[in-house]
Amino acid sequence: MVDTATTEWSQETIAKCVSAVVRSRRSVRAFKPQPLRRDIVEEILEDAAAAPSGANIQPWRVYVVSGEVKDALAETLVAASRAGTVPAPTHFPEPLPDLFRARLLDFGARYYASLEIDRGDAAARMRQTEKNYSFFGAPVGLIFSIDRRLKPHSWIDLGLFAQNLMIAAKARGIDTCPQVAFAPFHDPIAAHLQMPPHEQTAFGMAMGYGDLEAPVNRAGMPREHRHEFARLLGFPA
Ligand SMILES: Cc1cc2nc3c(=O)[nH]c(=O)nc-3n(C[C@H](O)[C@H](O)[C@H](O)COP(=O)(O)O)c2cc1C
Repeated sequence: MVDTATTEWSQETIAKCVSAVVRSRRSVRAFKPQPLRRDIVEEILEDAAAAPSGANIQPWRVYVVSGEVKDALAETLVAASRAGTVPAPTHFPEPLPDLFRARLLDFGARYYASLEIDRGDAAARMRQTEKNYSFFGAPVGLIFSIDRRLKPHSWIDLGLFAQNLMIAAKARGIDTCPQVAFAPFHDPIAAHLQMPPHEQTAFGMAMGYGDLEAPVNRAGMPREHRHEFARLLGFPA
């Protein structure tokens, strides 16, 4: 493990590198066929596990699939989706508060415009949604799970683990897309991966070398200014 105080890099260089990596990460949904080396995947997983967790319980579990195992899982999920045997996704509450609904609509407009899909074309949107289940063609897919007996705050730990993983990947030139689209598919996923009964599928992730010229990867999702989401109190003006 690297202790930032003992590397040969200055604090300024470390800050610039971390900032550049964090800000260049984006959700990538088209990948080059280039495979990922197992040793690099292992390094990324070890970096991810440096994430904090409440009382250090480290509740994360992740299944990392490639090759035939990934392809067979994708095939199962596409079939389940087409058979309509999977519950409808319920990622957001109804009604969604106005601010969030506006952002969700803005995301959809940018996303489908980048793919030249008309918002009214339900079949084309469905075909695009289905690409989630084959990890958007990435060479590696990840399924994140957690012990279902834990409370919501332990799901925060899982999110921190996943973010570490995405940043560790990006630092090595590897792109990712976190995917809640897998959550409703717990039953076929658990059967396929032989998960223990207490485990719950939380989300998935595509991972590979992104085709950064592909239009879908060039949509760019805006962020609100820090004035909007943060209040700094007690600092001198
Ligand atoms: C928890 C979580 C779940 C997500 N699920 C999906 C998904 O199922 N499919 C997908 O294409 N993108 C998914 N995304 C990606 C978001 O759409 C993306 O993070 C957001 O639009 C911001 O864009 P950026 O990641 O490129 O900065 C998910 C992101 C997060 C954090």
